Amino acid sequence: EAARDAPRYVGAIDQGTTSTRFMVFDHDGAEVGRHQLEHDQILPRAGWVEHDATQIWDRTREVVAGALASTGLTHADLAAVGVTNQRETTVVWDRRTGQPYLNAIVWQDTRTADIAAQVTADGHADLVCDRSGLPPAAYFSGGKIRWVLENVEGVREDAEAGHAVFGTTDTWLLWWLTGGPDGGIHVTDVTNASRTMLMDLRTLDWDDDLLEVFGVPRLMLPEIRSSSEVYGHTRADGPFGGEVALAGDLGDQHAALVGQVCFEPGQVKNTYGTGNFLVLNTGTEIVRSQHGLLTTVAYRFGDAPAVYALEGSIAVTGSAVQWLRDQLGVITDAAETETLAASVEDTGGVCFVPAFSGLFAPHWRPDARGAIVGLSRFNTTAHLARAALEAICYQSKDVVDAMVADACIDLRVLRVDGGVTANDLCMQIQADVLGAPVSRPVVPETTALGAAYAAGLAVGYWNDTDELVSNWRESKQWTPEWDDAQREAGHRQWTKAVQRTLDWVE
Ligand code: G3P
Repeated sequence: EAARDAPRYVGAIDQGTTSTRFMVFDHDGAEVGRHQLEHDQILPRAGWVEHDATQIWDRTREVVAGALASTGLTHADLAAVGVTNQRETTVVWDRRTGQPYLNAIVWQDTRTADIAAQVTADGHADLVCDRSGLPPAAYFSGGKIRWVLENVEGVREDAEAGHAVFGTTDTWLLWWLTGGPDGGIHVTDVTNASRTMLMDLRTLDWDDDLLEVFGVPRLMLPEIRSSSEVYGHTRADGPFGGEVALAGDLGDQHAALVGQVCFEPGQVKNTYGTGNFLVLNTGTEIVRSQHGLLTTVAYRFGDAPAVYALEGSIAVTGSAVQWLRDQLGVITDAAETETLAASVEDTGGVCFVPAFSGLFAPHWRPDARGAIVGLSRFNTTAHLARAALEAICYQSKDVVDAMVADACIDLRVLRVDGGVTANDLCMQIQADVLGAPVSRPVVPETTALGAAYAAGLAVGYWNDTDELVSNWRESKQWTPEWDDAQREAGHRQWTKAVQRTLDWVE
């Protein structure tokens, strides 16, 4: 009880793909305050996506200071701070100066597709998949580190001398928050490490064979720690203005699973953003996918055994709605899809497969391209808007089906979070196409909440996960209204349309 009286809150830094936010939560998991700032998306050429890591550190300082100022809190009000982050995005910097050697290479960046293809051509795909749980792909960090070592002058020498170091943005921020060149800690957690293709899922350590495949010197890699423990303390001369325990670190999709309190094997969450990420808790067992899913670490709290997960990543969902707005100009804001789509009973036969950057899970076809099929003169933008919402839901259904097949689960309910969950019609369609209920919590910021939970658990602010589970409250549930025949016919049509996007390139 003493730990509950003071300090009263827990903080979380959520360093995402488009913005960085700092949020403060109370013991019930309710939001107390926040501040959020975007950073630049740097697109130097087709397929390349970069962030300025120094700008991300600047934004982090601003959002921490901003949220503390607006809530009137100080570091002394915080029992601990957690960090969660866009995964895979690769920062390489000089630990003597804190200067990055180049812009961060973002997870969406495809410049390393050739490296991934070469790893496969050299016969290493099975090794990579077996040890890391991931198929060789441009998405993950290992190939990005290799690209930096091969393409930026002086980095390999500096890495071998222990000067050039790698980190995802959690590592980068934890290093700066604990002093940067002046004694900053160089750590990451098991979930972030599990997205590099360099960590063995069983030992939870960097794997020498994988390091050799990607030509990465161990010296440049952070120490892998659990997702919930005290890593170090913020510095008084930093944005917190005093010492706070940094005690949680999780990749954002893993943090969302924790924020949704999916601690039981078989529980699934779906986060709706520009893309969708479904994560299924498989318990302490490592489940291999036969259906196009990734095996990953869900979380590891302190010394407890690691909990694993199957993940289905979908590249384009909410960004298909942005495309209707920005490229076609048929809506003025994303929320308009709901009224427009609700003005018609169905899509009028239209199917829209937004395979703009190929198809991720469960197909993993980088060469697929988008399609709108089934058009007749009768169709309007309302049908198209409705088809875009259906596309979000059917892509999610395909991943759920893969999870059911891989892990033999019976999906009782799908827990959802993210921006699109404000769209009632879309959530109703999700329940209809799945044939299972869809449930949204009161606190939609599950990613930041999950990082706060991990940090608070480490310092005893929360005693155990049962306490977190009791914090979870449903704000709304959608139950299926379609009958089986309607569901099957709809999915059959969707599957045919997906096939067109795969056929297109052949
Ligand atoms: O794997 C990429 C994922 O972690 C990015 O999430 O929410 O920052 O786009 P988000």
